[in-house]
Amino acid sequence: MKTARGLLVTHLRCEYLVDPLGIDERTPRLSWELESDRRGARQVAYRVRVASTPEKLAAGQPDRWDSGRVETGQTTHVEYAGKPLGSRDTCHWSVEVWDETGATSTSATARWTMGLLDPREWTASWVAADPEIFRRDPQATIPTLTEPGTPVLFRKEFEITTPVRRATVYATARGVFELRLGGRRIGDDLFAPEWTDYDKRIHYRTYDVTELVRAGPNVLAATLGDGWWTGYVGWQETRARYDNLENSICVQLELELQDGGRVVVGTDASWRCDTGPILSSDFQMGETYDARRERVGWTFAGPLAAAMSESPWPWLPAKVVAPPAAVLVAQRSEPVRVIESFVPVAMHEQTPGVFIFDLGQNIAGFVQLRLANVTAGTRVTLRHGERLNPDGSLYTENLRRAKSTDVYVTRGGLEEVWTPHFTFHGFQYVEVTGLAAIGVNNLTGCAISSATAPVGQFECSNPEVNRLWLNGVWSQRDNFISVPTDCPQRDERLGWMGDAQVFLRTATCNQDVAAFFTKWMTDVEDAQTTDGIFPDVAPRPREDVRFVGLDGLGGGAGWADAGVIVPWTMWRVYGDHRIIQRHWRAMVAWLDWVERKNPRGIREHELGNNYGDWLCIPTDTSFRTQSPMKTFLATAYWADDAVKLARMARVIGREEDARRFDAMAARVRQAFQAEYVRADGQLTVETQTAYVLALTFDLLPPEMRRRAAERLVANIRDLGWHLSTGFIGVSHLNPTLTLAGHADVAYRLLLQDTFPSWLYPVKHGATTIWERWNGWTREDGFFNPQMNSFNHYSLGSIGEWLFRHVAGIELDPEVPGYERFVLRPYVNPVLAHARASYRTMHGEIVSEWKLDGWRLTWNVRIPANTLARVVFPSPPGAGVTENNAPLETSPGISDVRRDGDTLTCLAAGGSYAFETVVPAS
Ligand code: BGC
Repeated sequence: MKTARGLLVTHLRCEYLVDPLGIDERTPRLSWELESDRRGARQVAYRVRVASTPEKLAAGQPDRWDSGRVETGQTTHVEYAGKPLGSRDTCHWSVEVWDETGATSTSATARWTMGLLDPREWTASWVAADPEIFRRDPQATIPTLTEPGTPVLFRKEFEITTPVRRATVYATARGVFELRLGGRRIGDDLFAPEWTDYDKRIHYRTYDVTELVRAGPNVLAATLGDGWWTGYVGWQETRARYDNLENSICVQLELELQDGGRVVVGTDASWRCDTGPILSSDFQMGETYDARRERVGWTFAGPLAAAMSESPWPWLPAKVVAPPAAVLVAQRSEPVRVIESFVPVAMHEQTPGVFIFDLGQNIAGFVQLRLANVTAGTRVTLRHGERLNPDGSLYTENLRRAKSTDVYVTRGGLEEVWTPHFTFHGFQYVEVTGLAAIGVNNLTGCAISSATAPVGQFECSNPEVNRLWLNGVWSQRDNFISVPTDCPQRDERLGWMGDAQVFLRTATCNQDVAAFFTKWMTDVEDAQTTDGIFPDVAPRPREDVRFVGLDGLGGGAGWADAGVIVPWTMWRVYGDHRIIQRHWRAMVAWLDWVERKNPRGIREHELGNNYGDWLCIPTDTSFRTQSPMKTFLATAYWADDAVKLARMARVIGREEDARRFDAMAARVRQAFQAEYVRADGQLTVETQTAYVLALTFDLLPPEMRRRAAERLVANIRDLGWHLSTGFIGVSHLNPTLTLAGHADVAYRLLLQDTFPSWLYPVKHGATTIWERWNGWTREDGFFNPQMNSFNHYSLGSIGEWLFRHVAGIELDPEVPGYERFVLRPYVNPVLAHARASYRTMHGEIVSEWKLDGWRLTWNVRIPANTLARVVFPSPPGAGVTENNAPLETSPGISDVRRDGDTLTCLAAGGSYAFETVVPAS
């Protein structure tokens, strides 16, 4: 057997994740990447082996599954088809591939484990604090509707007498937890279990703690805070959204012993609870921590540790409470973690004793404080803000009711290091008071995010454009915290569907968001009404008398439609069919509802809050009003949803449904044309977004497209080459202009830096994307703080255009998931060079071009086992060379064709160096 030279099988993933623990997919999907230096390297067959132990796998005994040799090039979403998987099963796996030369290559070993698949396997009880612990502690607060309660410590001592083979913790809560075993933190994830529709499902997490258990006495400990269960969420003044105001936790440590025995240590009435150093902790309000109240030794075992952990009162038995009615499901996406740290770039003393630090980057997260030799009991207050007022003081008005204030009361002594536990803030600046002196070395900014892997990098000759791209990346990181939120700073932080769908494609260019959106789509469906109405926010806070403010949040055009756009985009970008199948009924119910309510084919009824082209210019932020523009965009989205559904129906083999949605799309398109399109191609609603939607959703008769594109350009020109789109138009603006033959106008908008424009905030120091074009202007200063976030990603959805059309890395119109793709940069001399790298499910694509006069040098990398349609902007007569030889003769290149001003070819996996001359126009 030959071993393939240069064909490597890498990056094995199960359900999009690297070595996930405790999954509950019974037919998990496996994917891998191929790497090769050889052009045209392809997989012709694979063989997946799955074994219960690494030894068995190594010994060639795949006792769970041996796929045998499967003749195919498929490397993604290979469904497990071995022995039925049971709870706790460990699966060690590897992939062997055969390439086109007959050589083979085998991957390194990866693994996944199964979680608890049957609810009866949760033998641990749910426990809550004995309310007495709050009552006897004068500093603690008992949770009320308006006051966050004091987080609770739980501990359990147990003895290990037999050596342990494997130790696993399964944990879930109503509230959010941190766990410790033997004094060490279990995992590094924050805010578990993450936000879902807690009425319907609650996540549990699985941790391998084999390394943490010790022979002899051990302590398993938990800290339980409010999080999304009882903390402040949205702009509500009260806190209870689910069953009650009581946080509770369920932890099950399973010890598999060397001698074959099994011991379970689960939460029950034998656990002890007490209050501790955290006096309160709330996402929006902040944390108060008194280090003098730390229970030294509380996470260690033994009489001494126990004695040291005593507060003035003994620990009380935990209270056993009823389990939730919701199902427990495995967390299926990357957890929230600290992803980057920032040392302040500047500090000033605003007034005596008021120190303001600048992290240089607007982040979501918190500060780690490091102090030495400070008198015990010193109260240090940290306030967080995104911007400074003109006088240099902290600007916090836009936080609305979110206090975002942390208080740390010192323990005193040589050194103390502290980070808050169950809170996060959206901030670039921190104001510290309470200390006589402090320096930049005393604090670090900790940025948190759902830890999705970075996949895209963009860089070009214009530093402001690079910063614009990076601002989008940061707004994504700062807002992807368990769910895609609108903003991380004010009293909102909700999973707004409009924002998410507008930014979604850009998000896929920056980070691997496949698992993240797979999880969130479940939240979206959980929030759908029985009528079929998709929500405007997901998870949707429960309709509750105390929660009227968010009630009725559903059906908003461009918002609710995310219920179709998310599965669609997951299919297009990741080749995911399962997300279509799983949410098929929900998507159909949505469009059936829209159709039922709007028999005329114009979406004019039941528009919910009807946000329109939110934050366009001129701005209309009225709710529940109608306007021609609002019905226009609602109808356009409906037509496009129907087109998407028809296509997705075919993907999952539902031909009859496909025909039904084809017909729906045709009907709506016709109604749209009758209502909004004049004979000369002018629209009855004349906004940039109207033209953009009509073009991008293909709603116009073909002969009118050119004219409509010209009207769009005229509109932009009349505004002095400025954009005026809101959330709904912005992501499509530059792609639409480009594909309609006006890439030059798209570039002009990109580089525009007077208000309103993408670069205006960049010019004025933005490090994230602002919510609105006029968040701050030179003339008027800050916009009304009632709605003025400096960290909202929607307007940063220009990112996808940078990848798709500037660097030119584009999806194939037919084949999803970048197994085939298009390389077609729209080069323009306003940029001397541009480069993007993008890691797809099949490996990394690179496109890097340089313009020297009219000479274009273009280096690309095409992943092994994929095929790119390469399109050169090259006038007739101008040849294209690859590696200094005529294109046609280049290995890996086929199907060279000329089509007007472009030359195209197919390129197989490999690296290529192209050169050509671009048209002078
Ligand atoms: C949010 C948005 C959201 C909008 C809906 C705002 O308060 O911050 O981003 O999409 O409401 O109108």
